[in-house]
Amino acid sequence: MEGGGPAHRRPLTVRALGIETSCDETAAALVEADASGLRLIRQRLATRLEESAALGGIVPELTVRQHLELLPKLTQEILEGEGDVQAVGATAGPGLAPALLVGLAFGKSLAWARKSSFHAINHLEGHIFTPFVSRGGWPEYPHLALIASGGHTLLVEAPNARHRTVVGSTRDDAAGEAFDKLARMAGLGYPGGPAIEKEAAGGEVGKVRLPRPMKGSDEGDFSFSGLKNAARILIEKEPDLARPGNRRADFCAEVQAAIAECLADRCRLALRRTGRKLLTVSGGVSANRLVGRSLEEAARAEGARLLAPASGWNTDNAAMIAAVTARRHLDGAKSDWQNDADPRWSVESGQNGA
Ligand code: KG4
Ligand code: ZN
Repeated sequence: MEGGGPAHRRPLTVRALGIETSCDETAAALVEADASGLRLIRQRLATRLEESAALGGIVPELTVRQHLELLPKLTQEILEGEGDVQAVGATAGPGLAPALLVGLAFGKSLAWARKSSFHAINHLEGHIFTPFVSRGGWPEYPHLALIASGGHTLLVEAPNARHRTVVGSTRDDAAGEAFDKLARMAGLGYPGGPAIEKEAAGGEVGKVRLPRPMKGSDEGDFSFSGLKNAARILIEKEPDLARPGNRRADFCAEVQAAIAECLADRCRLALRRTGRKLLTVSGGVSANRLVGRSLEEAARAEGARLLAPASGWNTDNAAMIAAVTARRHLDGAKSDWQNDADPRWSVESGQNGA
């Protein structure tokens, strides 16, 4: 006879495969998880960022072809010699509809063939998981989560695992989008965030003056388009700001400081209003060191602590999708065979929060 009471039961372990195709990254990852936490076994990621940049943005048909071509290959590499997988999850939104459909159809077929459970995963919920799962644990509650990526800038309050409320969002551009657009204005490459961070290292804040939109406002939202407009006027007056040299470094230092200050200021307000003592940050912009330091100061000033993703988990990846998949499987969630792609799926109705 196996076991006796619950104390002798073997811990329930799950191997979960995650698939991410919401934008131009094609990614797959395998994690192993139990009630106490998880570890990443293997992940693969391919992207054609440079090509997209050269073409002036994402070309949906090229992106879809890339996903179709690469997903089977990456997944095979991941699963090679890894035995059973009990759960498969794919990003179902938000994102680019045709790109989401590829990952979703592929994930469902794979789960069906392997007799695994299947889970349609909210990409933003994946980001929210990263500060925790990148360190081997599960999300802690309550928390206040800042998501700052190329497509989204959101402050999400989560009192527990089943409820999430958006308490702040951008009125125009996302923080990452602002980095990307301002980098392009300054003649730097894509993605703009890392390019501006590198350039800013040689510059000085305050030598060029840019506004801090919404800073000090008692409305909880973000706004970055004023920054873009102010920068355009400055560059028209002084073209050197967009040419290699000291002035461009000063411009980048100011851009980075302005975005970091705005993010930190909005987080302070939200911490004060919600009374939450744990602030998390995720998404590509969380890779920025000044942003990290500014958020840490903001959290400290409000008697809270900051948790950021471990390096490598900031930008889009499939490990975060595998992590949410594993959580859902462990929680006994039913398979989402009927779920369709939802390009505008809100983080408030992500399934673990539905
Ligand atoms: O999370 P992510 O990979 O994709 C989306 O879901 O959008 O975020 C990409 C964004 C880009 O806008 C990129 O410029 C920004 O994150 N980013 C950064 C840094 N690394 C990536 N922004 C500022 N500093 C960085 N080091
Ligand atoms: Zn993302």
